[in-house]
Amino acid sequence: MTANSGLRSAQWFGETGRSGMVYRSWMRSQGFTPEVFDGRPVIGIATTWSELAPCNVHLHRVAESVKRGVWQAGGFPLEFPAMALGETLMRPTAMLYRNLLAMEAEELMRANPLDGVVLLSGCDKTTPGLLMAAASVDLPAVMVTGGPMLSGKYQGTDVGSGTAVWRWEEELRSGRMTQEECAFAEGCMARSNGHCMTMGTASTMASMAEALGMQLPYSATWPAVDARRFETAQRAGQVIVGLVRDDLRPSAIMTRAAFENAIRVNAAIGGSTNAVIHLLALAGRLGVPLSLDDFDTLARDVPTLVNLQPSGEYLMEDFCYAGGLPAVMRELDEAGLLNGDAITVTGSGAGANVAAAPCWNREVIKSLAEPFQPAGTGTAVLRGNLAPDGAVIKQSASSPHLLQHRGQALVFDSPSAYYAVADDPDLDVDENTVIVVRYCGPRGYPGMPEVSNVALPKKLLLRGIRDIVRICDGRMSGTAYGTVVLHVTPEAATGGPLALVRTGDWIHLDVPARSLTLEVGDEELARRRAGWQPPAPHASRGWTRLYTEHVLQADSGADLDFLVGASGHEVPRDSH
Ligand code: FES
Repeated sequence: MTANSGLRSAQWFGETGRSGMVYRSWMRSQGFTPEVFDGRPVIGIATTWSELAPCNVHLHRVAESVKRGVWQAGGFPLEFPAMALGETLMRPTAMLYRNLLAMEAEELMRANPLDGVVLLSGCDKTTPGLLMAAASVDLPAVMVTGGPMLSGKYQGTDVGSGTAVWRWEEELRSGRMTQEECAFAEGCMARSNGHCMTMGTASTMASMAEALGMQLPYSATWPAVDARRFETAQRAGQVIVGLVRDDLRPSAIMTRAAFENAIRVNAAIGGSTNAVIHLLALAGRLGVPLSLDDFDTLARDVPTLVNLQPSGEYLMEDFCYAGGLPAVMRELDEAGLLNGDAITVTGSGAGANVAAAPCWNREVIKSLAEPFQPAGTGTAVLRGNLAPDGAVIKQSASSPHLLQHRGQALVFDSPSAYYAVADDPDLDVDENTVIVVRYCGPRGYPGMPEVSNVALPKKLLLRGIRDIVRICDGRMSGTAYGTVVLHVTPEAATGGPLALVRTGDWIHLDVPARSLTLEVGDEELARRRAGWQPPAPHASRGWTRLYTEHVLQADSGADLDFLVGASGHEVPRDSH
C-alpha cells in the first residue's frame, strides 16, 4: 500500500492506524483482496438503475462492463446508486427531482473516497442531473448513457416512443382507433431496454453529453441492447483511469466552446427544447457564461441534418446505423461550425474525434449542402410583453402556417381545467384560437412538467384540424410536436404577465420577428396586476417546499439558487 499517492482515495485507504483500518476493513467485507488499496485510482460508478425507471433498468449490466475497463486499466471500481428518475411514472414530474439527483450525486461523490466517476444515465433527467453533479464536484468524469430502445414496430411500420403516443391519442379521441388497438400498439412501441428512441429529450441529452465531450464518440447512439454499447462502457472504464492520472476534469472539458458545440449539434439533430433548460443549468454549475439568446443566435446558421422523429421520419436505431452523432459533428466541423479544439474525454479535440467519421445513409443524416430542414428552423427564442424574460418554440415541430399568427386567447389555469372541457362540442374554439395553459412553471406546478402541448379540442380534431397555437409556462416532451410556445418566463406563479391574460385577449405570435405580444395596454395590465393573487404554496415541508422556495426560472435552467456554482472535491474532515 502506498502511504499517499496524491489521490483523494489515499486519504482514506492510505491511512495508517485506526482510521485506515476502519476504511479498509469494512470494504474487505465485500471480498476484495488487499491489493485494491495499493494507491490505484478509485473510480465511482454512479448508477441510476431502478425498476421504477424502465429506461435505465439495464444500467446495472452496463456498470459491469465499466468495471471490466476500470480493472483493465489498473483502477478500483465501486458502483453506487444515484436517484433514478423515470420520466413515465414519477408525479408530478421527474423534473421536480432533477436538482435533487444532482445534489445527492454531488454529495456522494465528494463524501466518498473517489478519484473519478463514471456516470450512468438514460432517461431524460438522469443525464443532466449527473452532469450537474459532476460539474459541481469537478472530479474527472466520463458519462455512459444507456442507449436508445430498438425501433418500435406496429402493423409493419416503425413507431417512435412518445411520438406515437401523441398520434394514437388523437386517433383514439377522433374515433379512428379503438382502446383495444391502442393497448396492443403500446406493447409494440417500447420493446427493449433503453430510453426513448425518437430524438426526444433522452436522445437529445445523450447527444449533448457527447457533443460537450463528456462521453465517448458514438456513445449516444448505440442501441441499449447492442454489444457495442457494452464495449463502449468497458472503454469508458479504461478512459476514466487515464483521466484521473492526467487530472482532466469536467471544468476543462465543458467550456464555453463545448457549450457552443452542444447548442449547434442540438440544432443539427433537431433536438429537444429541454436541452435549453438543462444546458443553462449545467453552465450555471460551471460558471460558463451562457444565456437563453445563445440558443437562438448560435443555432441560426445551422440547418437540421438528422431526419428523426418527432420532426422527421426515422428513429435512433437508423441514426446509429447511418453513422451516429460523429457523422453529424463532422459535417459541422468541415463547415467551420464546430469548435474542433474543444478537448474531450478522449484527450483529443472534438474535431479530431470525428475527422474520419463516415455517413452510411444520406436519407437519415443529410449533408449541409442538402439539409433536412434549412438553417434557422431550430429552436427560436421569443420575447415580448407576454414573455419579458423569454420563451422558446421548436420551429421544426411547428406548423409553418402558424409561425406568424394572431388569435384570441382561451385561458386555463391548469391542464386539468382544459381537459375537463376539451371534448365539449360547444367549446368556443376554432383554428385561430390560442390556447393558454398556465401555472405549469417551475414553481407553479411545481417542477415545470411536460404538459404544454395539450391535445387539441375534440371539436377541432373531428374537423380534421391537427394543430393550433398553444402557449404555456411549462415544458414539452422532446418526443412531441405542434406549434407550442414553451417556457414562458417569468412564469404565471411568480406573477409574470402570463398570469394576467384573459380569455378573449388578442395574442400575436411572430416567430420570424422572435416576438410574443399580448395586445393589451399597459394601464389595463397594471389594473389586472393589482388584483392578482399568488397561488397558495404547494407544500409546508419537505423537498417540494425547499424546491419551490429556491427554484430559479427557466431562463436560468430551473436550478436551485443555492446549487448554482461548484464546491469542488476537497476531502472533507475525518469521520472517526
Ligand atoms: Fe425515459 Fe423517454 S421515458 S427516455
